[in-house]
Amino acid sequence: MVSISPLLSVRHLLALSLALNVSLMLSIILEKAKLEERVKGCPMKLEHTNISPFTGDGEITDNDETIINLDHGNPTMYEKYWQQMGDRTTVVISGWQFTSYFSDIKNLCWFLEPELAEEIIRLHRVVGNAITNGYHIVIGTGSSQLFQAALYALSSDATEPVSVVSAAPYYSSYPVITDCLKSGLYKWEGDARAFDKTGPYIELVTSPNNPDGFVRQSVVNRSGGILIHDFAYYWPQYTPITAPADYDLMLFTISKSSGHAGMRIGWALVKDEIVARKMVKYIEVNTIGVSKDSQLRASKVLRVISDGSGLAHRFEGETFFGFSHRDMELRWYLLREAVNKSEIFSLPDFTPEFCNYWSRVFEPLPAFAWLKCGDGIEDCETFLRGHKIWTRSGRYFGVSPSFVRISMLDRDPTFNLFVKRLSRIRSPE
Ligand SMILES: Cc1ncc(COP(=O)(O)O)c(C=O)c1O
Repeated sequence: MVSISPLLSVRHLLALSLALNVSLMLSIILEKAKLEERVKGCPMKLEHTNISPFTGDGEITDNDETIINLDHGNPTMYEKYWQQMGDRTTVVISGWQFTSYFSDIKNLCWFLEPELAEEIIRLHRVVGNAITNGYHIVIGTGSSQLFQAALYALSSDATEPVSVVSAAPYYSSYPVITDCLKSGLYKWEGDARAFDKTGPYIELVTSPNNPDGFVRQSVVNRSGGILIHDFAYYWPQYTPITAPADYDLMLFTISKSSGHAGMRIGWALVKDEIVARKMVKYIEVNTIGVSKDSQLRASKVLRVISDGSGLAHRFEGETFFGFSHRDMELRWYLLREAVNKSEIFSLPDFTPEFCNYWSRVFEPLPAFAWLKCGDGIEDCETFLRGHKIWTRSGRYFGVSPSFVRISMLDRDPTFNLFVKRLSRIRSPE
């Protein structure tokens, strides 16, 4: 074995760590300078926001009367990119095509179109956000249906209702979906951090999290627990891709990856064959498969993203992730500027991390802003409604109403109007 002088090696390590820290800081400073430069020449600057909330052209001054609805996470900001793509994602389906219920009877998920399966695997390989080798793909009518299929699959053999938990603030639809049918198989038990029941449980781990944008790990860590990882936002426009995820049951959706929420397409990567078969059974009973028309459209969209993303670093501006990442960066910059101006709101601070996809460090740019009202405002949703800004209260996410969730994914004109109005809001007194 080679022996190294301990003094020398410690010194070397210190020098190396210093060099790494300096280069990390430099890359963050450089990125920030680039962003500031971009904001200077950008039509979205707060002082120059003269865009109509409906069409994106014409001049209007905000008269504080227009309702700004940012309650839902409707991903309409992506329309702009897909418009620019013109016919590259156009799909023509003749009346005689796709009349059968079946897609591939040899596949465990017999209603999954083979070309969509191919594009899902390809996209995960291009982005590096999930392992697909050794997984079964189960397609669903949105990941909302797959969530229900997973609950069924993971609880159908239980002798008592399985507890379903997620750390607060959790995605507001989880309690609603879980208890909608008052199933005898599973039951919503709320905040995973406060969960102290014995018996089987399912923990939902949403990472990055909806509503607050933080990267998450499971919190219960007890035997008898099963995890569902909801990776709706584990895409490079929102968060650094730090490693390919390889958990037992992972949910993804086209709604937040490409912005095509209206297609209603989601997919699950499932390690265990029996669990995958039960999820397929649920979807068979529920909707007898998933729209083939939508699957065909989805595969075309994913193909265009992957085709472009291979060149990401040469043609950043034209790729889907290049466009959406830059837009998100700009939006977060403008939002933080507005929050600082108003002095009564605050936002979470995120730690920058190295992203394998972009080969650089950046700070998470979540799809939602998790805004806290200060100055003694207890009900932030009602307060903002008074300013005609519609948001979703923290109480739907299992926490205090002094927080609200605000969509960052609306069209430019709505977003511009929002930051402009927010920056003018002052203390109630
Ligand atoms: C964390 C999370 N999971 C799942 C979904 C639902 O996605 P889909 O449109 O595929 O049903 C959403 C949508 O907002 C979400 O935020």
